[in-house]
Amino acid sequence: MTIDARGCVVCPGLVDIHAHLRYPGFVEKETIASGTSAAVRGGFTTVCAMANGEPPTDSPARVEQLNAMVQSEGRCRVAVVGAITRNLAGSGPADWSALKHEGCTALSDDGNPVMSPELMADALRASERLGVPVIAHEETRDGTDAGAPNPCWTCAGEAAMVERDIELVRRYGGRLHIAHVSCDRSVELIGAAQAAGLAVTAEAAPHHLDLSLCEDAPSLGLPPAHGCRKVNPPLRARRDVEAVRAGLSDGIIDSVATDHAPHALSEKLGGMGPAAFGFTGFELALPLLLRLVRVGQLSLVQAIARLTCGPARTLGLDAGSLAVGRRADICVFDPLSEWTPTRDTLVSKSKNSPFHGQKLQGRVRFTIQAGEVHSFAGDHALRAARA
Ligand code: DOR
Ligand code: ZN
Repeated sequence: MTIDARGCVVCPGLVDIHAHLRYPGFVEKETIASGTSAAVRGGFTTVCAMANGEPPTDSPARVEQLNAMVQSEGRCRVAVVGAITRNLAGSGPADWSALKHEGCTALSDDGNPVMSPELMADALRASERLGVPVIAHEETRDGTDAGAPNPCWTCAGEAAMVERDIELVRRYGGRLHIAHVSCDRSVELIGAAQAAGLAVTAEAAPHHLDLSLCEDAPSLGLPPAHGCRKVNPPLRARRDVEAVRAGLSDGIIDSVATDHAPHALSEKLGGMGPAAFGFTGFELALPLLLRLVRVGQLSLVQAIARLTCGPARTLGLDAGSLAVGRRADICVFDPLSEWTPTRDTLVSKSKNSPFHGQKLQGRVRFTIQAGEVHSFAGDHALRAARA
């Protein structure tokens, strides 16, 4: 088979350290088939499935169930994240050794913070022993930022949890990965922890890097309080976006993670109060990151690294490399191709995005997944062919 990659960039298949595939429990939002198809359409060849399905991925049996579904209808590799606490309830620990033994690549209660410092300390100690990172969702649920669209997740709360968890690593060891960093103070704390030699890594989501969503520049005239802009952590102020961007270019934040969070349209209507948190992410990550390349915030090589070898390194996965002998996971994209996300151009079952109607540049032409070629060269439909 010959692939026409003229005018395209050829890079390792993208790796997403943070996604919600909604299996089991929420097939109306996404299925393993639709979620992994969207991932492949966005250039991803490995995605991590967070544990907040219903029931959550908190036991080896749940991991096995998820893996069986991926085996039967998955279009890309899915790395399973096991829960830190049973039922994600924050009170009792899951069996971390058993989860690791069943193949989990990380531990996380993502969607919920782990409020107990004792439990978090235990999880961090286990992370060192088992060789898997703890992915921390750093939220407190006790405040309101002035002028912020969402009432609960404040910058002060995020920074306090980041600080607490870094202190736990300092005292007890462990491998800490901070999910969806959104505030300037968090970037500062993570940078200081790394300078002190602690095993702390971090990710940022494309929407927290995009100035077009700041409160001072609402996209498409949508009011800041529109439900389609509701996400956790919330969209922040310009100074936070700029700090997160700087952290990404400095390498303090070495992964971009989509936090792909599909929700049905009906769940995103009705304003900030009732709307569900989250955006569809797989198909928009690469073009949104290319925006940062165009404004000179990142080099193309850095942008690709944050979407490939950065997350692969954190997860200890054989991914994110084009070296001879590695898995044939490859992304071929046209960096100049223009397109506009709409309900019709997205493959994910849920279309919830504040980027609808914004002109983007950068479109994946081929995703090669373990040697299997998915071609999007001709149209927007998903067409797979054996290499
Ligand atoms: O916006 C979000 N959506 N943030 C989270 O932490 C969870 C996620 C979800 O599961 O929908
Ligand atoms: Zn998440």
